[in-house]
Amino acid sequence: MSLVNQQIQLVSRPMGEPTHDNFKLVEVPVPELQDGQVLVKHLWLSLDPYMRGRMNDGKSYAQPQPLDEVMIGGTAGEVVASKHPDYAPGDPVVGMGGWQLYSVVDGGQRGMMRKVDTTHVPLSHYLGAVGMPGVTAWVGLNHIIAPKAGETMVISAATGAVGSAFGALAKARGCRAVGIAGGPEKCAYAVNELGFDACIDYKAHPDLKSLSKALKDACPDGVDGYFENVGGMIMDAVMLRMNAFGRIAVCGMIAGYNGQPLPMANPALILVSRLKVQGFIVSEHMELWPAALKELGTLVGTGKLRPRESIAEGLAAAPEAFFGLLKGRNFGKQLVKLA
Ligand SMILES: NC(=O)c1ccc[n+]([C@@H]2O[C@H](COP(=O)([O-])OP(=O)(O)OC[C@H]3O[C@@H](n4cnc5c(N)ncnc54)[C@H](OP(=O)(O)O)[C@@H]3O)[C@@H](O)[C@H]2O)c1
Repeated sequence: MSLVNQQIQLVSRPMGEPTHDNFKLVEVPVPELQDGQVLVKHLWLSLDPYMRGRMNDGKSYAQPQPLDEVMIGGTAGEVVASKHPDYAPGDPVVGMGGWQLYSVVDGGQRGMMRKVDTTHVPLSHYLGAVGMPGVTAWVGLNHIIAPKAGETMVISAATGAVGSAFGALAKARGCRAVGIAGGPEKCAYAVNELGFDACIDYKAHPDLKSLSKALKDACPDGVDGYFENVGGMIMDAVMLRMNAFGRIAVCGMIAGYNGQPLPMANPALILVSRLKVQGFIVSEHMELWPAALKELGTLVGTGKLRPRESIAEGLAAAPEAFFGLLKGRNFGKQLVKLA
């Protein structure tokens, strides 16, 4: 009897915030394996902010998610059947399987799937700290900010998938690490568990003056490197505290992903403080991934980085969990447990 797959497809494009109407859960048969193919059962689905951008039709660095097709997404799972010599049933693998329970993967296609070692690193962390989000933190810190020991590094969305890896990496470079996160619980976790030297609850500072003052207190020597995940007032506040020749890695602007305008209050600070401001996309730096994954795997494997996960149960819970991610309801890496 053939296996039945469940998948969530994008059926319409959101105007502003996504809703359940934009998605449809369908059942489709799992196709017969052909030579060279591998059947993967997904155990974990990664939910990531970039997915919101893919739901739009406009100009971007990546192709839009096609309508009436399975939503794009990173997955971790195990091989259940293989007609490719490099894969055997039981192999733990990560790939881009999408919002579905199974995927059939061409085992020979580079970059589609890789085997991972779960001896010291739990499988789900390959979608977070030891996966794309962790590498994003690594690339932004090392490649763009290029920190020196003793400098002060600041990151917004500090307790999320990218932010938690950034904290550990900045500390490993001998820097002062300061996080910005939403709420006292997240801030306590940033300092007590993630090793940040300080963390500012931006929700307790509703205006620019107050947030900028809190940053001044947390960063007595100013800010040398800023890893931007959010945009808007948070970016304005950090820019006021940047030291001369500071570097800003623009990784994300999640405060604007549902179409909100994000004006910059004082762009003249780029000139006045002689800042380097550079956006980057982690998938355009594949040459850096092996070194990044090695360091991140060691940090997690040795317990120096203990990333937290928010876990939604079952494929049908994915849309709601995704909406929560865009509103900060996640605490750590947002995952969906599929089996
Ligand atoms: N450039 C790249 O290649 C690349 C790759 C991966 C990720 N990214 C970007 O990196 C950022 C973090 O991604 P992630 O996967 O680690 O997500 P995450 O931090 O685990 O989750 C998103 C977090 O963003 C914060 N947030 C949401 N809306 C916000 C708002 N309006 N104002 C302030 N904060 C808000 C929330 O944290 P609080 O509760 O603390 O506000 C939320 O928990 C995103 O911007 C993402 O697009 C970029």
